[in-house]
Amino acid sequence: MNTPFDRQLIAWRRELHTWPELSGQEKATTARLRAWLQAADITLLDHPLATGLVGEVGQGEALIALRADIDALPLHEASGVSYHSRRPGVMHACGHDVHSAVMLGAALLLKQQEAALKGRVRILFQPAEEIAAGARQFIEAGVLDGVQAIFGMHNEPALPTNTFATRAGAFYANADKFIIRVSGKGAHAAHPEQGVDTIVAASQIIQGLQSLTSRSFNALDSLVLSITRIDAGKTWNVLPGSVEFGGTARTHDRDVRAGLEARVRALVTHFAEAAGAEATLSWHAGPPVLVNDPEWTRFASEMAEQAGYRVQTADLHLGGEDFAFYLQKLPGAFVSIGSASEAGLHHPAFNPDEALIAPAARYFAQLAQQALLHLNARCCDAILT
Ligand code: NI
Repeated sequence: MNTPFDRQLIAWRRELHTWPELSGQEKATTARLRAWLQAADITLLDHPLATGLVGEVGQGEALIALRADIDALPLHEASGVSYHSRRPGVMHACGHDVHSAVMLGAALLLKQQEAALKGRVRILFQPAEEIAAGARQFIEAGVLDGVQAIFGMHNEPALPTNTFATRAGAFYANADKFIIRVSGKGAHAAHPEQGVDTIVAASQIIQGLQSLTSRSFNALDSLVLSITRIDAGKTWNVLPGSVEFGGTARTHDRDVRAGLEARVRALVTHFAEAAGAEATLSWHAGPPVLVNDPEWTRFASEMAEQAGYRVQTADLHLGGEDFAFYLQKLPGAFVSIGSASEAGLHHPAFNPDEALIAPAARYFAQLAQQALLHLNARCCDAILT
């Protein structure tokens, strides 16, 4: 289909794409979304955050939420599209512009059938997903109060357009960050015996960390640990007195996550001690494992089949997604929709297929409407029994 509605959503997506904003700074994005929602006469709810928007359609007790994220990344675009970013060094390289257009479309479609809705649909345009802050801020602000189930999407460049994938239970990973600092004693490079070599100590710790993941955990546990930066030394003839390095750990299980942190801490301390150095570890928990509710996941997949998607069971994902915070509070389902981009997420040449937008908007409008019917039926079954 290529209706005026479809073309409008693509035009809006392109406008968002041209003017991307970083996490927590989405002021112009919020203003644009507000203008488009207000033009459609959609009620906007107050919230205390500087950016982000919450719209609501319908009336009644039953309440479903749909969520889009709206922030961009500190990346210089190299996709070659005519509507490329006009803000140097900032790019919608994760497709949050696409997600926003999808949920904007869903809001408009729901508004058209507002009188027939069996409850309310709250549509969240969430800021600051990339820094895993926005979902928590929305929760703390009470934006989720009264919501009975929540749905959201991420585009998936590795899947063809018209393909839908999700899974019940664990889906996206615990995405943690850690920083390790090794302190020793600086010395002349020609006299290492007069110092404590922190570069050698740090190298041993890094090697140890890699064998830890392969030797200390079950081969079927999903975990990965990557060191992504090392900061040490300034010149060629001085041994630095300290080294700082860090990276990320991804897991899908609470116990594996806790076990990994404990093992990393012990290894860092003891390897440093063996080298005569000292080490500190700071572990920053990122978004937790995203756990989809089995019933709503089945429901969302059935709706996708009815909407004409090729429906697959998704593999475990090693990325982090702050939608996980919502699913700690209430049931729901997060799903992937194919965006068929040769370049992946967070790549400067990322270029999702816009043909996914309007069908996904129709899908989420239908999903929300049917989920309200489902909630009503569930309530009345309970009363009858
Ligand atoms: Ni993303």
